[in-house]
Amino acid sequence: MYEEARPSAKVEAARRETEIGGAEAGNRSAPVEQPPSLLRGLFDQFGQPSGWLGGIAGLLMSRTANDDRWVVDLLDVQPTDRVLDVGCGPGVTLQLLANRASSVLVAGVDPSDVMLRQATRRNRGAIQQGRVELRRAGAGHLPFPDSSFNKACAVHSMYFWPSLEEGLRELQRVLTPGGRAVIAVRMRQASAGRFDPSRYGMTEQDLGTAVALLHTLGFGDVTVNRQADLDRQTMAAIVART
Ligand SMILES: C[S@@+](CC[C@H](N)C(=O)[O-])C[C@H]1O[C@@H](n2cnc3c(N)ncnc32)[C@H](O)[C@@H]1O
Repeated sequence: MYEEARPSAKVEAARRETEIGGAEAGNRSAPVEQPPSLLRGLFDQFGQPSGWLGGIAGLLMSRTANDDRWVVDLLDVQPTDRVLDVGCGPGVTLQLLANRASSVLVAGVDPSDVMLRQATRRNRGAIQQGRVELRRAGAGHLPFPDSSFNKACAVHSMYFWPSLEEGLRELQRVLTPGGRAVIAVRMRQASAGRFDPSRYGMTEQDLGTAVALLHTLGFGDVTVNRQADLDRQTMAAIVART
């Protein structure tokens, strides 16, 4: 279901221009330094949460919400919005989105059953009211018809998409023309300690690759927003219009 898609010639050219190499998860520019082996098992759980260790990873993900709040602000949620969260994890962003207005409709997808269970618990009331919907899926195959949403976000999930191109194409497909996408990632801080996720974040080159792909695929008004100290991490959020 999540296999790598073959990039089109145009997109392949954009990759070459930005010297994308395609290491971890296909979205990284160069071989990524790995966390110490002692922590590797836990770190892996942030990308593919499963079992009890995945449950712990989900609890750690939900401990801080300033990055999620920042993304929700960038989405500029309005009462009539239909918003998709790709890689929703434990559902913190979904909860913030649904709390912006009782008329907002929110959907979250994630390939991990453990995450979907945590997201369900966190959003139970809104799910029962039909305001939040969860589906098991990855970015490459979004289980929604064309133009289902007018806004979409992905917080700390793009690193794990098997194909950046497929994920962005799917975002484009499920968004209405003129819709807004916000894709937020943690940036690499080379000086961060070996146990700090920031040490393994995205490089400027990785970010440039994603921006170039968005342009190539026809997204417009592409901007990069930055926050230097969000829960001790440096975040970048790409905002783009379909
Ligand atoms: C670090 S967590 C972030 C979760 C949440 N967005 C947050 O910020 O707390 C990464 C999430 O991406 C999900 N993920 C992994 N592969 C994915 C894919 N191909 N498409 C969408 N999400 C994916 C994982 O299951 C995990 O829940």
